Amino acid sequence: MTETTPVPPVEGPVEHSAHDDASTAADDVGRAASATEVAVPAAAPFGPPPPAVLVTGLTKRFGTRKGAVHALQDVELRVEPGEFVSLIGPSGCGKSTLMRLIADLEKPTSGSIEVFGKTVKQARADQDYGIAFQQAGLLPWRTVAANIALPLELHGVSRKERRERVSELAEMVGLTDFVKHHPDQLSGGMQQRVAIARSLAEQPRLLLMDEPFGALDEMTRERMQGELSRIARETGAAVVFVTHSIPEAVFLSDRVVVMSPRPGRITGIVETGIGADAARDEALRENPAFFAKVTEVREALHGVPVAEGGREAR
Ligand SMILES: Nc1ncnc2c1ncn2[C@@H]1O[C@H](COP(=O)(O)OP(=O)(O)OP(=O)(O)O)[C@@H](O)[C@H]1O
Ligand SMILES: [Mg+2]
Repeated sequence: MTETTPVPPVEGPVEHSAHDDASTAADDVGRAASATEVAVPAAAPFGPPPPAVLVTGLTKRFGTRKGAVHALQDVELRVEPGEFVSLIGPSGCGKSTLMRLIADLEKPTSGSIEVFGKTVKQARADQDYGIAFQQAGLLPWRTVAANIALPLELHGVSRKERRERVSELAEMVGLTDFVKHHPDQLSGGMQQRVAIARSLAEQPRLLLMDEPFGALDEMTRERMQGELSRIARETGAAVVFVTHSIPEAVFLSDRVVVMSPRPGRITGIVETGIGADAARDEALRENPAFFAKVTEVREALHGVPVAEGGREAR
């Protein structure tokens, strides 16, 4: 399965040349994607802000030569603006499928999804979210700096501002010495860090992150967790975050959504109770209340009834 980024790379020969300066972001969008979107009216200007993500009665079946694959069944999920929600569940339970549906990279079989009160198509056209998925999905002909800068270019941010922002982001993900490299000169974990920096470039109000830390070593992973939670808090971004790590899910999240084996359903939701203002630091990792939540998520994942503090979703 091909994971995708805001601008999926095209197949074909890779040129590493003066291309970075010569090609514009618009050129690269033309080369890399064929996404043409139709405008629909934006959300109503009055009333409470719409949820960042609202998934209603979502079912997804894939037709394959060997018959239908029933990936998701009756998924209901609401993510508020600024909320950090992790999805956890066995391999193949539909987590990436759910993320791809939210990002308008797949179509639901039935049910609906809204992003900030808009259709997924409109939210994608408006670049309402940043994406960092299982595979980094970098543009191979662009340098690290030019990959990170892509969303900024697309939004017409000036060259000077782009340069400043890119160096800030490269430093944050520990890649300052590699900004002039191309993706194929980096390790898998370094490529993932480029994708993370790119997803954060525009400080989007929604981040869709599918195992973004999967290829990182433990120390880098913990540092990136701290950075991500700081950035999410500072920018007020909502985050939908897929992980196989229970401690990572608890550390980062306001709520951990537990899914069943395929067809993926939401079988439990654990509120971590950590609070938006609590420091996500080393002390938290060693806190007994943190361990208790890790146990609670583990039990929910293994089908044991969710203990006090959590609630059954269905
Ligand atoms: N394009 C597709 N065509 C057919 N089946 C698909 C397609 N995409 C996903 N599937 C199937 O849907 C199910 C859910 O896949 P998905 O990638 O969403 O799982 P996941 O929860 O992200 O797993 P993992 O934790 O291993 O990443 C799997 O059985 C997968 O084979
Ligand atoms: Mg996946």
